[in-house]
Amino acid sequence: MATIESVLHENRLFTPDDSFVNQANLLNKEEYYSLCKEAEEDYEGFWGRMAREYIQWHKPFTKVLDENNHPFFKWFEDGKLNVSYNCLDRNLDANADKIAIIFESDKGNVTNITYRDLHLQVCQFANGLRSLNIKKDDRVIIYMPMSIEAVVAMQACSRIGAIHSVVFGGFSAKSLHERIVDTAAVAVITADEQMRGGRSVSLKPVVDKALEMSKTGSVSSVVIYQRTGTDIEWHSPRDIWWHELIVDKPIYCEPEWVGAEHPLFILYTSGSTGRPKGIQHSSAGYLLGAMVSMKWIFDYKPTDIFWCTADVGWITGHSYVAYGPLAMGATQVVFEGVPTFPDAGRFWKIIQSHSVTVFYTAPTAIRSLIKLGPELPEDYDLSSLRLLGSVGEPINPEAWVWYHKVVGQSRCPIVDTWWQTETGCHMIAPVPGAIPLKPGSCTFPLPGIMAAIIDEAGHEVKNEGGGLLVIKRPFPSLARTIWGNPDRFKNTYFPNDIGGKYYLAGDSAHRDSDGYFWIMGRVDDVLNISGHRLGTMEIESALVANSLVAEAAVVGKPHEIKGEVIVAFVVLKGLCPKGDDARKIAIELRNWVSKEIGPIAKPEEIRFGDNLPKTRSGKIMRRLLRAIGRGEEITQDISTLENPAILEQLKQPAI
Ligand code: WT7
Repeated sequence: MATIESVLHENRLFTPDDSFVNQANLLNKEEYYSLCKEAEEDYEGFWGRMAREYIQWHKPFTKVLDENNHPFFKWFEDGKLNVSYNCLDRNLDANADKIAIIFESDKGNVTNITYRDLHLQVCQFANGLRSLNIKKDDRVIIYMPMSIEAVVAMQACSRIGAIHSVVFGGFSAKSLHERIVDTAAVAVITADEQMRGGRSVSLKPVVDKALEMSKTGSVSSVVIYQRTGTDIEWHSPRDIWWHELIVDKPIYCEPEWVGAEHPLFILYTSGSTGRPKGIQHSSAGYLLGAMVSMKWIFDYKPTDIFWCTADVGWITGHSYVAYGPLAMGATQVVFEGVPTFPDAGRFWKIIQSHSVTVFYTAPTAIRSLIKLGPELPEDYDLSSLRLLGSVGEPINPEAWVWYHKVVGQSRCPIVDTWWQTETGCHMIAPVPGAIPLKPGSCTFPLPGIMAAIIDEAGHEVKNEGGGLLVIKRPFPSLARTIWGNPDRFKNTYFPNDIGGKYYLAGDSAHRDSDGYFWIMGRVDDVLNISGHRLGTMEIESALVANSLVAEAAVVGKPHEIKGEVIVAFVVLKGLCPKGDDARKIAIELRNWVSKEIGPIAKPEEIRFGDNLPKTRSGKIMRRLLRAIGRGEEITQDISTLENPAILEQLKQPAI
């Protein structure tokens, strides 16, 4: 398994500061191990206890786990609850006047909202949705900027049992259209525009365009939150202003009590083949995962000011903005803008002005901020911070050490959290008061998460070594299926040929002699661009959909800031273009991909050739393309290559 060998030789060990340990939720290794032991000895008993402790049930469950229909597991199935009730109503007794969200706009205006007011807004909006005849099980697309309203929209759907699917505001009309069609959504909630980095970006016109793409659409309502007040096209009676919808709506909305397994949401993520997968999460199991991880990994305390910088369009923004912090009764920051506007001190300024205590962001943001201002954090008072987090991709030790020293002032542990859209919450991450840290390692699985490494034959690698990362037992927050495609769920995550009964994460990992996990990256053709997954297939299909293109293959290439960028190898229908022609077409194709999928999918480089390197059987030799893309010597065996001459051509980028 040459690709799965560890290349990191990181020996530094950072033991948590006494000041942290003395206040931590899980004080020490013993407490952490005793939870792990409890889970190992009585798995269902452990998760049953957690579910009773953390969740407020409308009707208690009597059975913890049903594994009969593998891998379609059911947790707490006969229990009833409402997730929005668990996030809002439960906080009204003790925390009604506590601030739930500190919202900071792109420009810097601040709006605070208490639990009482958030509850009221969610209730009114939920009643508004009900007045549009949106009911339990209906799918609702949310295409919104980072805002209090985005959280309200998600919570309101869960209040009435509607299944939301948030589409990141950077996705194109086509991507939005595909998600609307796949979910057969009855409504879209959006805004006129969003503000990012001082610029306005259209949202409603993109929704209009997406809806025009379907001839007989399922969508009967579009609710628009007025963010900037710009003129928009109006389609009556389909379009409704948010502020008009809630006028006169009752300020209490009876929650829809749903079964524990009721789908809370669908969130699309890329796979290596085919179209994006609609990852479907449950209500109770998902909520439980978001809550225990808040407690164990973020060491959540009622006095915290929590800030997760992720957009609600990603799973991180679901679990650690829209659900986890609210269910714990936390005060959190929600930020509309970007880390570099008006300058690269923006994050540090927000931490200072709101006295953020727990800060969670992605390595790509950390790296870009290091590049733009390694000393900038020193200009701000960051003494409120007590814990830092990282998510999305492996964090390189240099960035880790800077984050620890300059942002955390050597006082704050860093929780490097490995998890996925499918897992719903953290899977492997340090319990910060208990586990000494190694830069670049996500350390150990959470209590009750049976993570392991297997070799290609499916045997568990028990000691030091590398292989495929699996989770051996089903866990509450695991996705339940792929929307409308259970076979794909089974074949992707529980394939018969590898692991068999285990959840296969699609990542490779290595465990060192101390038992620490190190994530090595994806094993499939999935790229990780700025902490977001993109399937090579998806980008290739988008390129081939352009009338000039005959064939395309894309690979990832390491990038200083984004982690990975896309290099596209393209064969045109006509002659292979050269010089200015090549540059022009390359720019056109780049914009095309941006329109088809979204700006994050834009290839950084495009290279043209008369053909792609293929084996005699016609298979594209991706390993070779990867080497070319990275500018590496070609050391692979090219004896099976049908057309060696094209390698030279492909070495020249057009842009
Ligand atoms: C993939 C999941 C989970 C929220 C963000 C991304 C990579 C994620 C880490 C980490 C190393 C990581 C994996 C994983 N990944 N976190 N801490 N260390 N790799 O969610 O889009 O579902 O992507 O991101 O490759 O499989 P996602």
